Amino acid sequence: MLLTLVHIGDTMIPQLGPHFGQPVPITIRVPYASFIEKGQTASIGYEHTRVMVTRGTVLDDSNDAHRVAYAFETTLREPSRGRVLAIFVVYLILFLLCATYLRRFGPSRTRLLRTQLGLFATMSVFVIIAKLILIFTPISEFWIPLAAVPLWCTFALERRTAFLINVMLAFMTASLLMFDLPLLTVLITRGIAASLLFIHRKHPREMLFAGAAAGVVAAVVYTAVLTVFEGRFDPSRDLDLGLASPLAGCVAGGVLAGLIAQIFRQLAERALGSVSRDRLIQLTDLEEPLLQKMAKEAPGSWEHARAMANLAEAASSAIGADALLTRVGAYYHDLGKTIQPKYFVENLLPGERSPHDELDPDVSADAIMAHVVQGAKILREGRVPEPVVEFAYTHHGTQVIEYFWHKCKERGNPKKLAEDFFRYPGMKPQTKETAILMLVDSIEAASRTIQPPDRGKFEEMIQRVIFTKLKSGQLDECGLTLEDMRILALKMSDTLVNMFHGRIKYPWQEKGGDKGSKPPAPKATEKSGEKSTKSAEPATETKTEAREEKKSEPKSDPTEVKPPRNPQSKPN
Ligand SMILES: [Fe+2]
Ligand SMILES: [Fe+2]
Repeated sequence: MLLTLVHIGDTMIPQLGPHFGQPVPITIRVPYASFIEKGQTASIGYEHTRVMVTRGTVLDDSNDAHRVAYAFETTLREPSRGRVLAIFVVYLILFLLCATYLRRFGPSRTRLLRTQLGLFATMSVFVIIAKLILIFTPISEFWIPLAAVPLWCTFALERRTAFLINVMLAFMTASLLMFDLPLLTVLITRGIAASLLFIHRKHPREMLFAGAAAGVVAAVVYTAVLTVFEGRFDPSRDLDLGLASPLAGCVAGGVLAGLIAQIFRQLAERALGSVSRDRLIQLTDLEEPLLQKMAKEAPGSWEHARAMANLAEAASSAIGADALLTRVGAYYHDLGKTIQPKYFVENLLPGERSPHDELDPDVSADAIMAHVVQGAKILREGRVPEPVVEFAYTHHGTQVIEYFWHKCKERGNPKKLAEDFFRYPGMKPQTKETAILMLVDSIEAASRTIQPPDRGKFEEMIQRVIFTKLKSGQLDECGLTLEDMRILALKMSDTLVNMFHGRIKYPWQEKGGDKGSKPPAPKATEKSGEKSTKSAEPATETKTEAREEKKSEPKSDPTEVKPPRNPQSKPN
């Protein structure tokens, strides 16, 4: 509706209409078209032309161009209902096509409503800018810097989406000038070229070069298209028009698009539901107040988050997802545990009793589930970007806390609670990055229970975790493909092997075994400290899952699941 209004708004204001002998209030542009010219003799000419009468020019009825502009503008004035409806239908169909692609076939991030809204808002802004350029400026329409949008899409999303958005946006913009064919061709090719020439997506400065180079490509295409239409093209005559020169506009529009893309990059990233690299890097700084809070108040959970970050980042990078975002998500996903850290076994000191010992299973489950909601709340209050907050409320998806649900059933379920009462209140992962974190949350914990650290066992365990999540439908909405999952399993096995490969026992360990043996201090202080840290690694809530899976499918479990370090404490 908004764009329909933008399209015809000026034609509905009588004061903006042209009158002979008076200056025109808005620039009148007659799209490139062919017309038959009758000579004074019997000869008939066949010409192509584009007419522009700039704002403020006094219309002269003896001037052919002015008469053409007047006639064209008058036909547009007071648009019929049919025309308004047709314009609305054009925009509606273009938006519906875009939305369908983004929702069903786009990369995982474009399936989010906020990314779609951000994209549509960005497209609308550019159509409005295009309209303003067309009616208020004397510059050629080829200056319209549409290529900035595909550059942003390439940077924040991916190229296929950039191509689609570019084509749709080019149609919308060209519709303002009756789908002017050379303009449409230039806008499409310039956008695609910019996206393709923006080779190293992680270096945003390349957008400047990509925009300028795309401008040159557009100029070549324009020359070729005009030559096809007219059989000849005179660049010098075109360039003589100065700011109104289409050829110069092709190049200038590309340069301008690169500049705009670079200057407003961070704003656009936010609009497209993405977080800027700078902000993500800033969030990985261990001096960040929220990370310090976690390290201080829930040290066990913080160690778990750090171990996950390495694994998740490598896995994410292997399938071309956003590795840095996944790392940041891993750091912050369990921040809600800082509210009641002792409810989580990894934060209990050796020998410390778990508060769950005195609680009913449903009360325990409530306390555990709260960390998802509380985590999202703390992150939002700390002004952490929404794509990072998403990790907090999706990392357990809508899974049931099996441990407490079984415990409840074992006690005869006196309160007659439904299984859903033990279900996490979050949502299923919506992106590949959040799905990877969900998997890694289970895999990282289970990997510590595998002795000796063998590649085959790691791979089996990972496949089993993936299968469990698949079976419960947690990966239904994340966009991970079977190929992704195969690559993830292989990559995470490799990473785990590398993480655990250096565990060679010292002679004093070999002789007496780990239990009860003492390191020959002070010589082996450093190594023994490392070992002691490892052996005292906290169990996480995901170990619960590993143990529960072990209970339910003992024969198929490839992992060697050890009892919890602290036998009194209940896994959360
Ligand atoms: Fe969690
Ligand atoms: Fe976790």
